[in-house]
Amino acid sequence: MDRDFRTPELDALARTVIPDEHFEFSTETARDRFFNDTRMLDVKQDVHNRFRTNPKSMVGHMIDNLDLTGAESLLDLGCGNAFVLEHLRPHLADGTITGLDNAPAVLDAARARMAGTATPCTWIEGSADDLTMLGDDTFDRVMANYMIHYVPDLDRCFTEVRRVLRSGGLFQLTTDRPDSMLEMYKVHFNALKAMNAPAYLFKATPKGRLSLENGAPQLQEYFGRVKTVTWQDQLRFSNPDPFMRFYEVGHNHCCASSEPDERLDTAFFEELRDRVRTQVVEAIQRRGHFAVTKYTGSFLCS
Ligand SMILES: C[S@@+](CC[C@H](N)C(=O)[O-])C[C@H]1O[C@@H](n2cnc3c(N)ncnc32)[C@H](O)[C@@H]1O
Repeated sequence: MDRDFRTPELDALARTVIPDEHFEFSTETARDRFFNDTRMLDVKQDVHNRFRTNPKSMVGHMIDNLDLTGAESLLDLGCGNAFVLEHLRPHLADGTITGLDNAPAVLDAARARMAGTATPCTWIEGSADDLTMLGDDTFDRVMANYMIHYVPDLDRCFTEVRRVLRSGGLFQLTTDRPDSMLEMYKVHFNALKAMNAPAYLFKATPKGRLSLENGAPQLQEYFGRVKTVTWQDQLRFSNPDPFMRFYEVGHNHCCASSEPDERLDTAFFEELRDRVRTQVVEAIQRRGHFAVTKYTGSFLCS
């Protein structure tokens, strides 16, 4: 980790803002509601590109961790719209890429994004906990970035990754700490409180089951060596509009709009956004920007 945005104030804020309870979404909900098109991914990727303050991108961090010679066979579980793979491809000029995702819409986008490149690409529609279509000892690298919280059977997934990974290969699992983006949660929870919103909305990201904080012991049950490489970034917004898109479309209002609830109508979300926006505008007026700190990183398993 080459940048450290943590301050005692942010640590104290994390303890008061981030609840212990996390959302859980089924992989089918994710497929049919969040990833039935690429909007959510497009917004997050665009915002990270344009508003990050760490000169090295998260994708650069992932690529460095993979320690590629250029000739490896790589499997990307939950490859999404191939945003990461597009950046990674030049590092695999003599290798192969296999992208697997259970959402047909994002897989189509991945296929289109990588069409015509010289690195052979194979696309598989399927769930990361069923790799039966892939042979033993097939891949030099396997990665699973920001997707493991959706996988139903983690035991089967990690057993399968172990099986398809060649001896001497590497599995990179990238995910967040539960208090990542705590400033976004702070303004969101403040707004929910002021609106007397239903109690079930006061939960954190769906990454509770396996996060950067609790993941290493789980992975050590399957892999002899698990190294944690942390990564931080801070998104800074001097205009509220791109942050509001990040909040509303990129994160479904911190999951409040992830699943339909008849108590939460259009007026509810309009008021929620107004209250969030007001706080963001105040922060921009006070400090010149609204900051959202990302605490993320990768487990490197071999
Ligand atoms: C937040 S996106 C991450 C995409 C990509 N890895 C990245 O870092 O840009 C999560 C992806 O996991 C996929 N996904 C969800 N459940 C899955 C499962 N059980 N098996 C495979 N992919 C899954 C989604 O369709 C989505 O494309």
